[in-house]
Order: sequence, then C-alpha cells, then structure tokens
Amino acid sequence: MTDLLLTGIGRLVTNGGPSLPEAAVAIENGRIAYAGTEGDAPSQGSGQHIDCQGRAVIPGFVDAHTHLVFAGDRADEFTHRLAGADYTGGGILSTVAATRAASEDDLFREAAGRALRMIAAGTTTVEVKTGYGLELEAEQKLLRVAHRLADELPIGVRTTFLGAHTIPPEYQRDPNGYVDSIVEEMLPAVAPDADYCDVFVEEGAFTVDQARRVLEAAATHGLSARVHAEQLSHSGGARLAAELGAASADHLDRATEDDADALAGAGVSAVLTPGASYSLRKPQAPGPMLLDHGVNVALATDCNPGTSYFESMGLVISLASVLMGLTVDQAVFAATRGGALSLGLDDHGILEPGAVGDVVILDAPSETHLAYRPATNLVWKTIKAGVVVAG
Ligand code: NIG
Ligand code: FE
Repeated sequence: MTDLLLTGIGRLVTNGGPSLPEAAVAIENGRIAYAGTEGDAPSQGSGQHIDCQGRAVIPGFVDAHTHLVFAGDRADEFTHRLAGADYTGGGILSTVAATRAASEDDLFREAAGRALRMIAAGTTTVEVKTGYGLELEAEQKLLRVAHRLADELPIGVRTTFLGAHTIPPEYQRDPNGYVDSIVEEMLPAVAPDADYCDVFVEEGAFTVDQARRVLEAAATHGLSARVHAEQLSHSGGARLAAELGAASADHLDRATEDDADALAGAGVSAVLTPGASYSLRKPQAPGPMLLDHGVNVALATDCNPGTSYFESMGLVISLASVLMGLTVDQAVFAATRGGALSLGLDDHGILEPGAVGDVVILDAPSETHLAYRPATNLVWKTIKAGVVVAG
C-alpha cells in the first residue's frame, strides 16, 4: 500500500541521476517505491496524498557531525573572539563542567529542542558525539541521551564516542594517563552503545600517536573511526584516518592535496563543517579540491556551543556554496548522500526504490534557493520514513 504519494513536484533531486521536472514520489512501508516522472507514478491508493504544487523535493538531510548533547552556552567566548581572541579549544572544558553538572533529563530536554529544530529544518538523520563528559559515567549519560533522542523523536541517530575530545581537568598533568583510562576503562564500557569512536587530533588535544592508540583499541571493540583532523593546524589527523581506514576525517580546514590523495585512496569520507570555519572566522576547508581528488565529501553542522552553534543544514549548504566554492548541486549532494555514505547508511540520502523514505519538500521551486535565501527556513515539510514529521 502506498503510505504517501507526492505529486506536482516541480523539481526532484534523487541523487541517483539528473534532477527531474514534473515528478512524483511514492513511499510504501517507509521506503521509496517510486521516484520519477509523474506520468508513470503509481495510483494514489488509500494513503496520504500531497500535491507539491511545483515545489522542489530532495532527500532528507543527513547531518554527519554534531556535538548535540551539551549544557549551557559559550556566548561570552564568542564575544571575546569577535573582539580578537583566538580559539584554542580550551573553552571545551567549561562545557564539560556544565554538562557534568546537568541532569540527564535537562540534557535530554535541551538536546531534544535542538533536534526538533533540526527536523523542522529538514534533517532526518543526525550523528551525535559525546565528548563533554570526559569521564565514564558522564560519557555514558550523553550516550543514553543520544539514544533517547532516537527513541522519542522522528530522527535517525548514529552515535560516536568522543572521550578523546580534550584532556579533562583531572588529567591535565598526565595526558597519557587519560589515554590509558579511555583504552582500558571507557572503551570496553561504552562500545556496545556507540557506532563510532572519534579523536580530536590537534595541538593541545591529542597527538597522532595517542589517537592511533585510542582508535586501534576502539576497532577491537567493533567501533569504526571518525577523526577531528586538520581543523586549527595541520597535525596529521587526515593521514592517520587514511592509515586506519576510518569512516571519516572531519573539518579538514588545513588539509593538503597529499591528504586528499590519502583519503581518496583509503575510501575515507571528508566531513566538512563550514559553520565552524565561519564562526571562527577562518578560511573554509578545501571542498572543491577534495572533490577533485575523488574524496566523498559530506557537509555537517558540527552543532556545538563553542565553534558552531548551527542547527540548519540549509544554512550549511549556503556557506558551502558561497564561501567554500562548491556548486549548489555538490553541496546538496554532500548534505544528503555524502553524509549518508560517511555513516555507512547506503540506503539513505537517495530517492530510489528500496531506499528509506526520508524526504524534504522545499517551499521553493529549486534547491538553489537553499543557498540563495540563507536566512529563511525553506523546508515546507519534513518526511521521515514516509510520515510527515514537520510542516
Ligand atoms: O568540532 N574541534 C573540536 N571540537 C568541536 C568544538 C568543541 C567546542 O569548542 O566545544 C568542533 O569544532
Ligand atoms: Fe566537531
């Protein structure tokens, strides 16, 4: 039975071929049954029918890098940066203090608010990192909140353990002791509840050798790697991601052509975060260069209180087009299919029979309007597995 039939689509972006005018989409049992020209569409049946009246339809956004679960904000730090202060990553510890002190219910309420705004802005799948607990119980609390988001809200969630985000206060004089505790105590305990393990490879955070230890241990517990790489300095995180066959290397603001070759050769996705570069007032990552070298590029909000308090993938697409130099088509692909591939979700981010029925109807005639009208939420309806969940 057709659960949902969309007709009157003025422009359909499937990610499986060229965009189509005058198209229709049918969703059955939560999955795409048809996506193509309207003339060949199945009949309506007894499910819901939406006449899109010429609007554009694209796959739901897959936001492949967020730090969604945190307490408090860092508006004061942002103000200091606007006045000329540099970002060093040190502010992470103030969010760690607030997050450790927050109750699980309060963390859930705040994260759910962000997730609901993301859904209203077209996101149907989100990756959620821990990393503001930095001790076993607090990291487990963040993972439980991430899973509760998946259980209670209409959004797909992939979880990443980022115990190696920065050195917590208790280990300031013994960073390797903290790495020992991640490897020996934290990873065995959190692995059943996480999909990935991430490390922030950066001066002042973790070295390549420390990251290798963490990620190799994570692999023994079945967790694939994601790496915060080449964000503030060129520290070798991208080469490590390639060496380990990571799922993704993220940020990459300072990545080189050699890094791009290594990532492409190892099949590592590049998850780019234009909102962080924008908020930090730094040059954007070399997205066009990474694509030229054959790397799968994904775009993400990096939603976090320090460097990128962004929730809208539409705005990320605009930054990636206007400031990073991707075409709008490349940016929309990266924000949907690119993100899905980086998360191993082969049946997401594409509108073809059998894929999940995660779809966005834009209140605009083409996806170009996402980049062109950045300050407006252009999402008319968000559809998750064939059900209208916003709009
Ligand atoms: O992705 N780079 C490290 N982690 C975050 C920032 C976290 C924070 O400042 O709270 C990022 O930009
Ligand atoms: Fe991040």
